[in-house]
Amino acid sequence: MKTIFSGIQPSGTLTIGNYLGAMQQFVKLQEDYQCYYCIVDEHAITVPQDRLELRNNIRSLAALYLASGLDTEKATLFIQSEVPAHTQLGWMLQSISYIGELERMTQFKDKATGKEAVSSALLTYPSLMAADILLYNTNIVPVGEDQKQHLELTRNLAQRFNHKFNDIFTIPEISIPEVGARIMSLQDPTKKMSKSDANEKGFISMLDEPKRIEKKIKSAVTDSDGIVTFDKENKPGVSNLLTIHSSCTGESIESLESKYKDTGYGVFKQDTADAVINVLKPIQDRYYALINSEKLDEILDQGADKAAFTADKTVAKAKKAMGLGRVKKKKG
Ligand code: TYM
Repeated sequence: MKTIFSGIQPSGTLTIGNYLGAMQQFVKLQEDYQCYYCIVDEHAITVPQDRLELRNNIRSLAALYLASGLDTEKATLFIQSEVPAHTQLGWMLQSISYIGELERMTQFKDKATGKEAVSSALLTYPSLMAADILLYNTNIVPVGEDQKQHLELTRNLAQRFNHKFNDIFTIPEISIPEVGARIMSLQDPTKKMSKSDANEKGFISMLDEPKRIEKKIKSAVTDSDGIVTFDKENKPGVSNLLTIHSSCTGESIESLESKYKDTGYGVFKQDTADAVINVLKPIQDRYYALINSEKLDEILDQGADKAAFTADKTVAKAKKAMGLGRVKKKKG
């Protein structure tokens, strides 16, 4: 059976972009693959975090994964910092990562530009992300489009390591959804929807109440021609809403275009809001039932043990390949 790995940062409540670009895929894939899904808290500290907020966000993300339909009989859910192999292999991979290639990452440039104090971890973050993936002999990594460059680097690092030391890493493939790989801001549809957007009207949080979702979609920036068609260049706002609508209902964009051909934006926006609410409301109900449960802790404990079992084996192989530590004599 092929293996899937993916991760989400616990840095604020997830947006509908995270859900449609990533989490929705995770749930579908668990039926046919061996899946590892990770709460990548060590990635979150590459930018300043409030200690208590981070703790809450970690727990909240775990509950959201489960509320979205993740089944721990089928998939392993765990917290990155509870499996030390991630930072161990991350360090080894840093030693074969070049500063130049890390500086070329657009996400690093975006997050570092204009900041006075930029942590070195923000630069070396992709080496840790590569470690996350390579620890599990991962075949496929489902992500949104913004992670493509990091995945290419992961593949390069795996090939470099295999070539320099020993052929131990599987080279992972990227999987990006056909629709929903890049959900845009509702207020500036030329920008990616992001949970760190200062303008709250730009994103829909997975925990936004139905009324709020409706309000945000109704005030989403569109254009003045009133025609519901998909045209990313000239009609980015309407195209983004069509993408959201299609990803939430499974109805194709072409079919939505003909359905709303003569209705104008009012009806289209109302139906898009309903489609989002229909997806999020049941998730929210399950989320609130889970967030304070002991079951959540049991799941995360078991997940960390299961992940460490595989990850530790890979670290042992990587250490041996690089000549780290000692060769232990067999007892007896
Ligand atoms: P993060 O936490 O920023 O986002 C989690 C997932 O959500 C996707 N995503 C989106 N998809 C569509 N539209 C959007 N507007 C949108 N915003 C976010 C992201 O592409 C991602 O799939 N570096 C990663 C976390 C990570 C990881 C890994 C992922 C760490 N290690 C190993 C895969 C494998 C990140 O910051 O994602």
